[in-house]
Amino acid sequence: MAAREPREVREYSTDEIVVEWEPTLCYHSHNCVRALPRVFDPERRPWVDIEAASADEIEAAVARCPSGALRTRRVGVPEPKREQPLEVRASAQGPLLVRGGVRVLDAEGNVLYEGEKAALCRCGGSQNKPFCDGTHKTNGFEG
Ligand code: FES
Repeated sequence: MAAREPREVREYSTDEIVVEWEPTLCYHSHNCVRALPRVFDPERRPWVDIEAASADEIEAAVARCPSGALRTRRVGVPEPKREQPLEVRASAQGPLLVRGGVRVLDAEGNVLYEGEKAALCRCGGSQNKPFCDGTHKTNGFEG
């Protein structure tokens, strides 16, 4: 198996909040865009305007990201302890949505991703397996 490229994570920050975006995990649900279009605009570069809303508004919008591609952390605030059990849910005609802390490994045991959420392909069409890349929207998947 070929070595994986290092994970690309872009950060957008203020003195209150940091938004991380990991493009290879994003399957373009557009939940963030619908929740807070003045901050998240895929037609703009950079597509995240971190100054366009309060930290609370941004945190609430990012919480709607189903894939874990968008994440937030508060500056100077420790990460909250996990209280929810791991949850795996099949989305309607889309990926398996994992919440509650996940570590995704490749066949050799290398960590591909570790975080709070992940969207895993169950249609078989993703070019970024095991992650969903949104191909299920166009390949006729009915799961
Ligand atoms: S489930 Fe989204 S690409 Fe397969």
